[in-house]
Amino acid sequence: MISGVQEYISFPIFIITVVVGLLILHLLKSRPTNIPPGPVGLPFVGYLPFLGSEPHLTLRNLAEKYGDILSFSICGKTVVYLNNYEVIREAFLKRGDEFAGRPQYPSFFRWLTDGTGIIQDEGRQWQEHRRFALHTLRDFGFGKLSLEGRVQEITKDILNTLKETKAMPYDVSTLLANSTANVISSLMFDKHYDYQNPEFLQLRNLTQTFLYAIPGLGSFIPRTYMNYLPSILLPTFKTINGVKKEFHEFVEKIIREHESTYQEANLRDYVDVYLEQKYRAEREERIDESTFTLKRLAAISLNMFLAGTETTSNTLYWGMKLMTFHPGIQDRVYKEIVEVVGKERLPSMVDRNNMPYTEATIMEIQRFANIVPLGIAHSNPEQTTLRGYTIPKRCVLLANLWNVHRDPKYWPEPEKFDPSRFLSSDGKVVKRESFIPFSIGKRICLGETLAKMELFLFFTAILQQFHIKAPEGDLKTFDRYTSIVRLLKPFKIVAVARD
Ligand code: HEM
Repeated sequence: MISGVQEYISFPIFIITVVVGLLILHLLKSRPTNIPPGPVGLPFVGYLPFLGSEPHLTLRNLAEKYGDILSFSICGKTVVYLNNYEVIREAFLKRGDEFAGRPQYPSFFRWLTDGTGIIQDEGRQWQEHRRFALHTLRDFGFGKLSLEGRVQEITKDILNTLKETKAMPYDVSTLLANSTANVISSLMFDKHYDYQNPEFLQLRNLTQTFLYAIPGLGSFIPRTYMNYLPSILLPTFKTINGVKKEFHEFVEKIIREHESTYQEANLRDYVDVYLEQKYRAEREERIDESTFTLKRLAAISLNMFLAGTETTSNTLYWGMKLMTFHPGIQDRVYKEIVEVVGKERLPSMVDRNNMPYTEATIMEIQRFANIVPLGIAHSNPEQTTLRGYTIPKRCVLLANLWNVHRDPKYWPEPEKFDPSRFLSSDGKVVKRESFIPFSIGKRICLGETLAKMELFLFFTAILQQFHIKAPEGDLKTFDRYTSIVRLLKPFKIVAVARD
């Protein structure tokens, strides 16, 4: 047919005509009626190419034109974007049941765990496993050590490594990520790895590849698109494919080991407690209806590593950078540590209630860093309305947590790093409603308590033992790279041992 056309017009003109025609068709295609207003993107990819390297900033700017609820399309999916605290609260907290789903189309993110696990699942089995996970984390008394005891063991690795740096410039990024990954492997598999262990490096490789390889909102792209556009949009797609396979093999091996050494009277970790549920269902001949499958256990393990490693470690990484910029704040934290804990023992969670300035500093680090700027996408399984707009069934809902923490309505001079915003006039910690780094509502971060424990124990132990400085001549910058998380580009600190 094309050769027929070529008798009348040249091939480039034919292509241009087709592209322009498609564009016009796309522009004319009416938006569903009464959905939130928003910009029109390109055919096929929608608004994706215009979101830039920091989508939370682009979207905040779009809200100035379209309002605090707006919509656009990404690769044929309708995205509804929530810009400020009030509207996020309304959707995720007040009307949590309607908006607690997750997008179910085969996106890259969903593909990673084949849609099972906790993060990407929804409905009855999500509720059941979320409840089970929260319960298991709360009652974490199995094995030899409590959860706090496990985190404290790993704290010692951090302190020993920092001591070995002998106050030479050192990038703590890998050390912090190894430590938070070790907390998760201790919790899930009862394994406290040596950082050179090949199995451990494999685990770390997966979370890192995943986070660094997919910029902006790339993880929303449907898998079918990736098959066509891998080299343009996701050059590292193949690598991730390989790492996913390795991870699953790795976890399956650990589960098999656990099955062969399982003892009901000695449950060592999350995997054992999960297996207990599975075996009980088998004994009671309920296995067909039980959702405690081995496939789901592998997916939940992957969820925990993906959600619980780089989020916590990068918050601490931001914390280290901020301490080099604010020596006065660091000194006040140190003073409080010495007053409450002393220098002879490591800080523990019971100290936290007596350390309001330190707690306020950690909260301010979280507010400032905004480690998960757009949260994790929600979805509405049924059509509904929000603030008078129609929200068609199965939209992708994005909440700008970054903007909530930069809103001058709640945070005067939001760009200023100031722990005192979390303190009352008599020095007590003030819980601020619009402080939501873990999101809000039914999907609120499942690891919130664990993350807060790690942040407190690691941060206070480091500042108790070391004075953190920037290397000579270091520039005061926050160079960043944003994927699902907001990462600082590599930098070094100098950790000078306190006497
Ligand atoms: C400073 C550290 C952390 C931050 C800032 C953080 C933040 C978040 C956010 C914003 C969400 C999305 C909530 C939503 O969909 O509305 C989330 C979900 C989640 N987080 Fe965290 N997180 C952190 C650490 C952890 C840790 C240590 C774990 C592991 C135990 C974890 C496990 C999860 C899981 C499993 C979900 C999905 C919950 C669900 O879909 O029901 N997170 N987190």
